[in-house]
Amino acid sequence: MATSQHEIARRRTFAIISHPDAGKTTLTEKLLLFGGAIQLAGTVKGRKSARHATSDWMELEKSRGISVTSSVMQFPYDGRIVNLLDTPGHEDFSEDTYRTLTAVDSALMVIDSAKGVEDRTIKLMEVCRLRDTPIMTFVNKLDREGREPLELLDEIERVLTIRCAPVTWPIGSGRRFKGVYHLIENSVHFYAPAHGGRVPEGKVIHGLDNPFLDEVLGEQAAELRQEIELMKGAAETFSREAYLAGTQTPVFFGSAINNFGVKELLDAFVVHAPGPRAREADARQVEPTEEKFSGFVFKIQANMDPKHRDRIAFLRITSGRYEKGMRLFQVRTQRDMQVMNALTFMANERERVEEAYAGDIIGLHNHGTIQIGDTFTEGEALKFGGIPYFAPELFRRVLLADPMRMKALQKGLDQLSEEGATQVFRPLSGNDLVLGAVGVLQFDVVAWRLKHEYGVECRYEAVDVATARWIEGDDAKVRDFRRQYEARLALDRAGHLVYLAPSTVNLNVTMERWPDIRFRATREH
Ligand code: G4P
Repeated sequence: MATSQHEIARRRTFAIISHPDAGKTTLTEKLLLFGGAIQLAGTVKGRKSARHATSDWMELEKSRGISVTSSVMQFPYDGRIVNLLDTPGHEDFSEDTYRTLTAVDSALMVIDSAKGVEDRTIKLMEVCRLRDTPIMTFVNKLDREGREPLELLDEIERVLTIRCAPVTWPIGSGRRFKGVYHLIENSVHFYAPAHGGRVPEGKVIHGLDNPFLDEVLGEQAAELRQEIELMKGAAETFSREAYLAGTQTPVFFGSAINNFGVKELLDAFVVHAPGPRAREADARQVEPTEEKFSGFVFKIQANMDPKHRDRIAFLRITSGRYEKGMRLFQVRTQRDMQVMNALTFMANERERVEEAYAGDIIGLHNHGTIQIGDTFTEGEALKFGGIPYFAPELFRRVLLADPMRMKALQKGLDQLSEEGATQVFRPLSGNDLVLGAVGVLQFDVVAWRLKHEYGVECRYEAVDVATARWIEGDDAKVRDFRRQYEARLALDRAGHLVYLAPSTVNLNVTMERWPDIRFRATREH
């Protein structure tokens, strides 16, 4: 038992949130490199091709390479076991990206120093807010001309409503980029562009008053001292409590591609980031250190590997320990299953797990019996919450090539939506089927799978819906609302009422008109 406690306490399970091109893949490579998980940075490739993903799902599957198999990357660092969960970002952005964020204990936000806070980051941050997930920030690409650091922090604070506490501070940027000053350690780390994938050993000196600083930096030394003065007056100092509460984000500056500033980030991350956190279930709160195993499924991935055409259910362990051959109780179906061959994903290889602990992710082979949101225990009838459906932002009407295949289409869509590949809405009026997604590729994947797995050919048509909200309120009010908005209402797969708004302006006006109705952007599984 003592070893379990130790194993659990040293887990760090997190995901990276960023807008495409901010440097998530590059940073991931460098983190893996520090963890010794890969020999040379650059091994986590396939991202270039992933970006050019076409609408051909087969091509996509082939080209995705690592972005599929690296769903979870585990590596040791400084006595800890780090689990990095991939959040699909480019064309493969999907609801999985959101759901993955419900399975982590903290997140790392990457910001491009020239672009500042971008759309996708704002959305992902909203998802983190649902559970007050602690966030560390890495401002990337300091080797390029970017915006003033103070201005960037101000933007993060304003747009993301989280306070910033710089831990490192950049010395110049672009061609004048010389390194970072570490506020907590009171040391200066000099920058040397790194080529190839080696871990650079930059020079470090202590103290801002150190005369060596003037020797190396010349006039930039005085500028740095002045800027640090100014910044200390303007920004908060790091507080672990505020970070853990999700109200403050410690900020690091660097250049991922040059592997600079990354070690400072990782060193602080393993020390300060939370280990596995307690999790709410319907009956009670579950502590990670409980002896008995529990966990929940947050994602199901199909066609992981062309050689094994299986589906994998990703389970986050919330308490206890998994051991090969263990019997797990699937609470929803009330069935036991013996798990001989759970998977973990080290770098780009699948490995059999012998044991795993709270904080870890295991992959269960799924033959259609496991659903997103399922809880597994050693027998207790618990149900974890917190994996919502997210209101889609993209919508398409489904048209069948052969109307006789309606039944097969419905069955296929039912199963694919159960797996989380898309959401299906049935408008109250008419016989349409409307699909909702957050990433455009989700539609292509669904069409491809309908054809190949269910023998149904379909195509899509634009539909006049911009966003959706689940409707709640007391019965009489909902009845009134339903009468008046019949044409804009639909039922989701579980029969919940959904308002399909043609625009956000329309949504806002409708919400104002109906103060007693709740318009929810998420719904629990
Ligand atoms: P993403 O996963 O967040 O989408 O970003 P990714 O790491 O793929 O990085 C996007 C682009 O930014 C890449 O260039 C990458 O090399 C570059 N980049 C990442 N970190 C830094 C940095 O610290 N400084 C500079 N100057 N560039 C950085 P690309 O040309 O699109 O791709 P590639 O040819 O380098 O693969």
